Amino acid sequence: MLLVFGSINADMLFSVDTLPRPGETVLCPGYKLAAGGKGANQAAAAAKVGADVHMIGHLGKDSFGDFARDVMTEAGVNCDGLALSNQATAIAVIGVDQAAENQIIVASGANLDTHPDQVSHELFGAGATILCQNEIRPEATFELLKRAKAGGSRTILNLAPAMAIEPDDTKSIDVLIVNELEAAMALRQKTIGDDPLVFAREASQVLGATVVITLGAEGAIAASPGGCFRAASLQIDPIDTTGAGDAFVGIFAAALDNGDDLRSALQKASVGAGLACTGLGAQTSQPSLVEIETHLDKVNVQPVNR
Ligand code: RIB
Repeated sequence: MLLVFGSINADMLFSVDTLPRPGETVLCPGYKLAAGGKGANQAAAAAKVGADVHMIGHLGKDSFGDFARDVMTEAGVNCDGLALSNQATAIAVIGVDQAAENQIIVASGANLDTHPDQVSHELFGAGATILCQNEIRPEATFELLKRAKAGGSRTILNLAPAMAIEPDDTKSIDVLIVNELEAAMALRQKTIGDDPLVFAREASQVLGATVVITLGAEGAIAASPGGCFRAASLQIDPIDTTGAGDAFVGIFAAALDNGDDLRSALQKASVGAGLACTGLGAQTSQPSLVEIETHLDKVNVQPVNR
């Protein structure tokens, strides 16, 4: 069972020629409403590859909340653990430019009410994988991770948006998934330096966790006490990279929950993240397991020993 504890947003997507600079206004013909939020995106991505996914979070009592719940349910996510807030459903305003780069602003609203007490202790145990991000209150996230770890679950943290990890919190994390910027912030460094593998290996030792660093078009690397791997990225023509990281995280967590080893999880996640860039929006372009398996031989994953 994969329990996702985190954010649920309604995304407003604006396709623009160029993203606005500070002080600039840019125009586009219209916008699209899509289901989003890092937690919900990861839950939906995991459900689409066959995981038994339970989403825990908060929605507002509004049509955006109904929409977000319906889209997750349609993807196969169990939404019984969602609660209603007196605040509005979180909204993300997302600009996407011609090069598929994005800019995102989130109004958190109902996400700020998400609380570890929403998760009953019976859900923890050796058969449970708990997946968190950093789009709700960090205190709530780290309290849940502590309880989940103490209860014998596997814990995965996607530390997005970026934040430094407090030393006391490192003990509750089995797997940390971050991009380059988030990796540096997590360990209070300015950058990860010239070699992501060296950084990941050191971070894995410092945190006592498996560390996965996603590198966009350069692929991803994973460092764990049992070994290190480097994965290539899937070669695609990107339309929109929004939610690609979430697809990676959701598919990776689903694979580990399914019993896959680190290499296999990295390969499926890398393929899935690539496919998720081929359409506009986060949850709209997430692949099924069959689609991922069709492309598995296009992404090479190598052990790295140096
Ligand atoms: O990671 C992509 C997500 O970030 C979007 O769906 C948006 O809601 C923001 O949370």
